[in-house]
Amino acid sequence: MPARILAAKVSDVPDGEAIVIPRALTGTVDDIALFHDSGEYFALDNTCSHELASLAEGWIEGGVVECPMHTGRFCLRDGKVQSAPATEDVASHGVEVDGDDIVILPNPERIAEP
Ligand code: FES
Repeated sequence: MPARILAAKVSDVPDGEAIVIPRALTGTVDDIALFHDSGEYFALDNTCSHELASLAEGWIEGGVVECPMHTGRFCLRDGKVQSAPATEDVASHGVEVDGDDIVILPNPERIAEP
């Protein structure tokens, strides 16, 4: 059964913004960016697949995040790359909202080795 990580309160992530959930909490190989886009929450690996920028600092709109460094774009739902210069997808993670809590279900393929 996948881990369930209590990551934040809904009030911690205003619409159109994102926060970083550190890997020390999630147990993953990368920090996780937790996004809020128009009432929906999404979680991706925080590090851009192009040159290591923080996607949590990117521009969020229409289900997509645009990297703050070179404007590569990724689908918030599944991490698939949408535009150059990025060419590789980033991993996505499960998210559930439970009352005021946002719970992340880390992608099993991104769990850090003990
Ligand atoms: S670091 Fe993200 S597009 Fe270059």
